[in-house]
Amino acid sequence: MLDVKMLRFPCAFPSNAPCDSSDTVSRSIVVEGMKDILFEIRRIFYIFGEGNIGLVRGKHANGKSEFVLFNISGKSKVKVIDEDLGETVYELNEPRDAVYLPRMIWKEMYDFTSDSVLMVVTNEYYDATEYVRDFEMFAEEVREMKRILEMN
Ligand code: TYD
Repeated sequence: MLDVKMLRFPCAFPSNAPCDSSDTVSRSIVVEGMKDILFEIRRIFYIFGEGNIGLVRGKHANGKSEFVLFNISGKSKVKVIDEDLGETVYELNEPRDAVYLPRMIWKEMYDFTSDSVLMVVTNEYYDATEYVRDFEMFAEEVREMKRILEMN
């Protein structure tokens, strides 16, 4: 199974600059499918709005979709919960940072700042049937996948 991982993108402009958000230089970041992100990009959506303050979004896993999440403005956190209730939190504090989520990862997005624009890039068109919204069902599916992998 693939791992969740943090990604950090360099500046395309000015070229090779560190691209942190602490200075006031004009900057841009470029992200290309099959190069910077190792899948073909089929869909992009944004989660934004002051109504997200205090909310927890996500709370599901996806059977087919892989995702890369960026906070192109503001900040948020992404919590990943494994089948044994182990939790890892990824902080998206800068436009250059992103987190890659492979298939069948339980994710929760929260601690949105009022200016947060969480951009999500994925390899699949929207398909409601690939969503696993029940945690116990998710945990059982992952355990089954791991049993099968161990047998082979
Ligand atoms: P959902 O993925 O369930 O929530 P969250 O953004 O918190 O992870 O999406 C919320 C609603 O938006 C749900 O009714 C389905 C709809 N939706 C689409 O129609 N197309 C999409 O690409 C996405 C991501 C959601």
